Amino acid sequence: MRTRSSIHLLSVLFATCALQVATNEDDSSCSFDLMKACRSSVSAVMKAVRVSEFGGVSVLKMKEDVIIPSPGPNEVLVRVHAAGVNPVETYIRSGKYPALPNLPYTPGNDAAGVVHSVGSKVSQFKKGDRVFTQLCTGAYAEFTTADQNSVFDLPERLSFAQGAALSIPYRTAYVALKRVQARASETVLIHGATGGVGIAAIQFARAYGMTVFGTGGSSQGLEMALQNGAHKVFNHKESGYLDLIREATNDDGVDVILEMLANVNLGEDLKLLKMDGRVAVIGNRGTVEINPRETMTKRLAIIGVGRFTDEEVKEAMAAVVGGIDQGWITPLVGKEYLLENVTEAHRDIIDGNARGKMVLLVP
Ligand SMILES: NC(=O)c1ccc[n+]([C@@H]2O[C@H](COP(=O)([O-])OP(=O)(O)OC[C@H]3O[C@@H](n4cnc5c(N)ncnc54)[C@H](OP(=O)(O)O)[C@@H]3O)[C@@H](O)[C@H]2O)c1
Repeated sequence: MRTRSSIHLLSVLFATCALQVATNEDDSSCSFDLMKACRSSVSAVMKAVRVSEFGGVSVLKMKEDVIIPSPGPNEVLVRVHAAGVNPVETYIRSGKYPALPNLPYTPGNDAAGVVHSVGSKVSQFKKGDRVFTQLCTGAYAEFTTADQNSVFDLPERLSFAQGAALSIPYRTAYVALKRVQARASETVLIHGATGGVGIAAIQFARAYGMTVFGTGGSSQGLEMALQNGAHKVFNHKESGYLDLIREATNDDGVDVILEMLANVNLGEDLKLLKMDGRVAVIGNRGTVEINPRETMTKRLAIIGVGRFTDEEVKEAMAAVVGGIDQGWITPLVGKEYLLENVTEAHRDIIDGNARGKMVLLVP
């Protein structure tokens, strides 16, 4: 076991819980009511963020004495070096989310690091392997356990911070494109192209032969979207940007929209879509007024992106691994924070100004 001053060897008389979940729920793909607690024998403690009550950012507490779980037979114990910050983790922390974990818990869905030890039935990973994982909780910590089926090799060409950007964002982008049946040669507007999901969606859509339009709220973010493969970009903070998008399609409209903020944009999205257009609702933070007639006159479809099936997750992660192997999946890391600065990160992810994927570093 790695020796560090914050890890005190303890003789612990009680067991702890490694929280693992079986199925998917909305954009965290977690169903906390199905969460089961696994008893583990433990011998050391670690730094981790703990939440004992739902609420504002102040409920995120940095602890130095959280017990390190032992991996179950099918699990891998990972020394985390980076954890992705996803908006859903703020919704869960605030308690305003349909599926909530039991308290106390350690937040974090996406982690990347090095395998520390493996359970008795794990043969495909070994100590020292570089990996990334998808979790339901537990990434904001020095160590986390993950089911071996949720662990993937992280090649040397990608940093741990990039690894922490791979699960939720890329999986979501893939499932969204799949659900709206986006096809090569179609024009897809990624409405919110500068954040974790947006950059992932650009890379997928471009690799799959679509014409890719993206929006962002800053010139720096838009430049990054272009560098990552968008053909044209538009500033969603500037008035008249929707007209510019329409003009870019010769007034035809776009085939597909991947929408990151439906409560703001869905009404206009329906106007922007062409005949047989589809909009994927990926992100939403409230209610919105739409004119349903638009869907009738243009045979439009509004498709929600949530409650992923196991098959969708499996397929999406296979696509992610394929894109990594082929070299065209390369996450763009934006703001990085030390784990200790998690409250700042949770504030910033909601405030906006995305520049790629926001990540917590766990050196
Ligand atoms: N359904 C799911 O399974 C699922 C999974 C992952 C994420 N999500 C949701 O999808 C959204 C994006 O997630 P993320 O991880 O990419 O977050 P992020 O990294 O914080 O990025 C947020 C994105 O939204 C953009 N945005 C801000 N205002 C906008 C507006 N008025 N119109 C269009 N876009 C706007 C931001 O652009 P600027 O900052 O440049 O203005 C940025 O591109 C969040 O709402 C998240 O909860 C859903």
